[in-house]
Amino acid sequence: MNFNQLLKERRTIREFDKEYYIKDEELKEILEAATLAPSWANSQTWRFIILRDKNIISQIADTFSPNNPAIKCTKDSNLVLVACFEKNIAGISRRNEINYNIQSEWAMFDLGLSCENISLKIHDMGLGSVIIGAYDYNKAREILNIPENIELCAFISVGKPIKKTRIMPKRKNINEIIIKTL
Ligand SMILES: Cc1cc2nc3c(=O)[nH]c(=O)nc-3n(C[C@H](O)[C@H](O)[C@H](O)COP(=O)(O)O)c2cc1C
Repeated sequence: MNFNQLLKERRTIREFDKEYYIKDEELKEILEAATLAPSWANSQTWRFIILRDKNIISQIADTFSPNNPAIKCTKDSNLVLVACFEKNIAGISRRNEINYNIQSEWAMFDLGLSCENISLKIHDMGLGSVIIGAYDYNKAREILNIPENIELCAFISVGKPIKKTRIMPKRKNINEIIIKTL
């Protein structure tokens, strides 16, 4: 797929074919794309928990905000990636121990870059995904038993889209995103 087409046609997908099983080779390709993102001093602090167990996936979907439109498709999914990062690495210069962590965590920034790679790769493979940020953080952490040094950020539910296309939600005009030109 040509790059512009990939950028424009990637959509959040919330209806998955329940019968389609995401193969381990497909999962591997997706994770390889995740590793290709740039990161603070190449620190690569993104970490993922792979959910395949339908019972755990269902418990996680139950932590989503009550009217979250991604609940049903997550329950229909057989692959949910839990996007996390290892804390206290990105943003800290190893050479002089200066803390450049002014934007709370560069790790979150890096994880976002990695997740965009994941979303684009999934689309390029003819699959679909939805990123979920509205969930009960404490409940989800408890279900997944996430270690102390790992921050939990988002879920990415993956599946085979049922419909071919979705209309792109309206984007801001480029003039609206420029604060000023100096
Ligand atoms: C950080 C983040 C959190 C999101 N959380 C949710 C969510 O909780 N539930 C959901 O259905 N979609 C969620 N989305 C998907 C957005 O609604 C979607 O990306 C946006 O409407 C633009 O649509 P598009 O991805 O098709 O371009 C999230 C996306 C991001 C990047």
